[in-house]
Amino acid sequence: MNIAIIGTGYVGLVTGAGLAQLGNRVVCVDVDDEKINGLKEGRMPFFEQGLAQLVAKNQSQKRLSFTTNIAEGTAPSEIIFIAVGTPSKKDGQADLTQVIDVARALPKVLNTYKIIAIKSTVPIGTLELVIQMLTKAGLKESTDFDIAFAPEFLREGDAVYDFFHPTRIVIGSSNSRVIQTLDELFLPLNAPIIHTTPITAQMIKYAANAFLASRISFINEIANICDKVGADVAEVANGLGYDKRLGEGYLSAGIGFGGPCLIKDLNALIKMSEQQGYEAQYLKAIIDKNEHQIRQIVFKIKELLGSTLYDKVIGVLGLTFKANTNDVRTSLAIKIIRLLQNEGAMIKAYDPKGIKESKELLSRVKFCKDPYQAAEDADVLLILTAWEEFKELDLNRIKKLLGKLFIIDGVNIFNSEKLRRMGFTYQGVG
Ligand SMILES: NC(=O)c1ccc[n+]([C@@H]2O[C@H](COP(=O)([O-])OP(=O)(O)OC[C@H]3O[C@@H](n4cnc5c(N)ncnc54)[C@H](O)[C@@H]3O)[C@@H](O)[C@H]2O)c1
Repeated sequence: MNIAIIGTGYVGLVTGAGLAQLGNRVVCVDVDDEKINGLKEGRMPFFEQGLAQLVAKNQSQKRLSFTTNIAEGTAPSEIIFIAVGTPSKKDGQADLTQVIDVARALPKVLNTYKIIAIKSTVPIGTLELVIQMLTKAGLKESTDFDIAFAPEFLREGDAVYDFFHPTRIVIGSSNSRVIQTLDELFLPLNAPIIHTTPITAQMIKYAANAFLASRISFINEIANICDKVGADVAEVANGLGYDKRLGEGYLSAGIGFGGPCLIKDLNALIKMSEQQGYEAQYLKAIIDKNEHQIRQIVFKIKELLGSTLYDKVIGVLGLTFKANTNDVRTSLAIKIIRLLQNEGAMIKAYDPKGIKESKELLSRVKFCKDPYQAAEDADVLLILTAWEEFKELDLNRIKKLLGKLFIIDGVNIFNSEKLRRMGFTYQGVG
C-alpha cells in the first residue's frame, strides 16, 4: 500500500520504517527541515535501537522516503497516518496545535479519497474537530476521506521490536472500508486486532498509560514501606508477578515515571474528566505519588550528606528518561538534578546517549566523558537511569574515585549485599 506519515518523530519514523519493511511504500512528512534533510542524507534525528539500519535499508530499496512537502507526501497515499506531537499545555490539557496544523494543511492537498488514521494520543473530541475542519474546507466525509483512531503503544528503547511484535492493534472506527484497509495493512504483524469505536480506542490508549503509571506508583509505595520494614521490593515484585491476575510488568521500584507520555497522558485524562464534570481522584493520586517519590530521592541524599547540600558534589549517572533512548523529555533525572541544584549541590553527570539533549535543559552541570569522571571526588554517586553500561561498572575503580563511598541507586541496578560487602554505603529503592 502507499502510506503517508505526517510527523516524523519517535512514533512516525518507527511506524514509517516498519511499514516500509512490511513491503509498503511510505513517505514520511515533517515540518522540520533539519530533520528531513538529515534523514535524506542518512542521519538519524534520535537514537533508537535498530532504527538506523531499518531506515537505511528501506530507504535504499526505495520503499521509504522523506519530505517536508505535505502534498508530495500525501498525493500517492491511500492511508495518511497523523503522528505529530500532542504535548501538555500548562494546565495539563493536550495541546492539539500540531494536529490542528495538519488538519488545516490537508484540505489543500487531498487529491483522492484517503483514510486518515490518527496515531497521536488525542483526547475525545479531536476526531470530530478534525472532521469539522476538513468539511468546513469543502471536503466530504466518506467521499473524500474517512477518519480513524489507531493508537500507538510502542516503548521508546524497544520501539522497533514493539513495531514488529505488537501486543495488539487497536482500530477505532465504525467504517467497514476503513477497518478492512487497516486490517489488511496490519495483518502481517500477526497480532490480535481490536475493533472498536474511536472513543473507546482513545480510552484504551489513555487507560493503558494510566494503568502503567499506576503500577509504577503502586510498587514505589510498596518499596518505601519495604524500606521501613526491612523487606526487599524486588523479591516482593517477583512474588507478585507469578500471579497471573497481577502480571509481572511495570513493577520495578525506582524514582518514578517520567518520559514523554505517562505524565502527559495522565494529566490529559484528568483534565478531560474534569471537563466532563468528573474528578479523577485516583489518577491524581498516581501523579501525587510520583512527585512524592522524586522528593524521596532528595530526602535520601540529605539523610546521607546532612541537611544542607550546599557545595556537595553529586555524581549523576543517567539523564534520559529510560535506558536505550536519548530522549530526555520529562526525564525525572533532569527534574531531580534541578531540585538538587536548588539545594546548592554541584552536579557532575554522565549519560551514554543523552548528554547533548540534556545540555539544552540544564545549566551549571559538569557533563562528563564517562561514569568514572562523574564519580571522581563526588560525595555521593546517584544512579537515575538503568543503562546496561552502569550495571557493568568497575566498582573497584569507582571505590577509588569517589570522595565518599555513598551510592544511591534510584533504579535498583546493583546488588545491595555485594556493594555493602565492598564497603559502600548503598541505598536502593525498597
Ligand atoms: N514517544 C512515544 O513513546 C509514544 C508512544 C505512543 C504514543 N505516542 C504519541 O504519539 C504522538 C507523537 O509522539 P512522538 O514522541 O513521536 O513525538 P515527536 O515530538 O517525537 O514527533 C512529532 C513530530 O511531528 C512533527 N510535526 C509537528 N507539526 C507538524 C506538522 N504540522 N506537519 C508535519 N509534521 C509535524 C514534529 O516536527 C516532530 O518531528 C504523541 O501524541 C504521543 O503522545 C508517543
